[in-house]
Amino acid sequence: MGASLLAATFAAANAFGDVSASRSGASPDGALVALGRSLFFDTRLSRTGKISCGSCHLPDRAFADGLPLAAGADDKVGTRNTPSIVAAGASQFLFWDGRRERLEQQVLDPFTNPNEHGLKNIEELVRLVDGRDEYRLAFRGAGGGSTTGPSPDGIAAALAAYVRSLDVRDAALDQYLYAGRNDALNAAQKRGLELFRGRAQCATCHTIGANEAPLSDDGFHSLAIGLDKLGPRLANLVRVVTKATKESLDRLVLGDPDVAALGRFVVTLDPRDIGKFKTPSLRNVALTAPYMHDGSIPTLEAAVEHEIYYRSQSMGRLLILTPDERADIVEFLGALSGSGMRR
Ligand code: HEC
Ligand code: HEC
Repeated sequence: MGASLLAATFAAANAFGDVSASRSGASPDGALVALGRSLFFDTRLSRTGKISCGSCHLPDRAFADGLPLAAGADDKVGTRNTPSIVAAGASQFLFWDGRRERLEQQVLDPFTNPNEHGLKNIEELVRLVDGRDEYRLAFRGAGGGSTTGPSPDGIAAALAAYVRSLDVRDAALDQYLYAGRNDALNAAQKRGLELFRGRAQCATCHTIGANEAPLSDDGFHSLAIGLDKLGPRLANLVRVVTKATKESLDRLVLGDPDVAALGRFVVTLDPRDIGKFKTPSLRNVALTAPYMHDGSIPTLEAAVEHEIYYRSQSMGRLLILTPDERADIVEFLGALSGSGMRR
């Protein structure tokens, strides 16, 4: 296994940025995915020995955590709701504000964030990985001698391969729309789908295409959530953010709730982006309460209410949906959970 894993690690490391391979559903190498899975659930790769990626991205919660805001090392409360990462492999931007553009960059960030794994630096991560026989074997491989052991790129490639492997598109919606299974949705879900694509205009952002349904446009939009509290601090916050380096941005965003509320602005520094967040994919959304970037909306019903209210505001005319129609949309959102994810 060692040699093939090694080859796969390099193949994946060299294929950085080749998003098309993962999009087209090419199956990632099994050994690399398995290595990624081990790293993902390994609590020894944290300062306290208690945190792994899987502490916040729980498999039985569709890889979210059920908390309003993430809790990390020393139970420090973070500033952002933990998103499900099931659709992250298909996403062009990572994090709620899109501050990372490649999964291979993003998957290393949590290790050195004091609110997450809390390691001193990436060198410490590499040392910890290299200190474990099973990883040393996997990374050095049986032969070839073309590598000196675990590297940040190799670790990132394995984790990214694991995250991509989670994106299995077999929800009831996929079966109904793309596999010709007319009975995959019940009557309420079919009505909900019509509203979602039609009058309620949800699919403008939570896209449903001719061949696949990413349920996100990879765009950034403001639903005016969490902005009200910024007021007096805004000018000062903007100053702090414009001075931040790329490296310090991650800590700022995950350490200061007010900076976190600025959203996309921290990346573009365009005032029109204040309070804008990435459209989350709604895959498995019935399993990932509470909702929104700050976890401020507790239930799916309330999230749909908020969206309908906000649609009215942004369209400049009232979007009126009866209680039954709202219930149909909620029913429909239940048809977006993948087979491995149903509780
Ligand atoms: C302390 C909890 C916590 C830990 C530990 C953690 N994450 Fe996350 N993860 C989050 C939060 C919160 C976000 C959103 C942060 C933001 O948007 O600023 C996130 C975002 C992500 C995303 C982006 C999803 C998207 O669609 O934008 C990926 C992928 C991800 N994490 C993978 C990982 C991996 C891999 C690890 C382990 C190396 C890890 N996470 C460890 C809480 C955590
Ligand atoms: C203008 C683009 C846009 C439209 C239209 C839109 N959404 Fe959203 N949706 C978003 C964004 C952006 C977020 C995240 C906002 C945040 O966290 O501040 C979101 C969040 C959500 C969430 C919470 C997801 C999570 O993981 O936290 C649900 C549920 C949702 N939308 C459903 C809907 C429904 C139902 C409709 C139609 C009534 C709709 N959306 C219309 C952009 C949109």
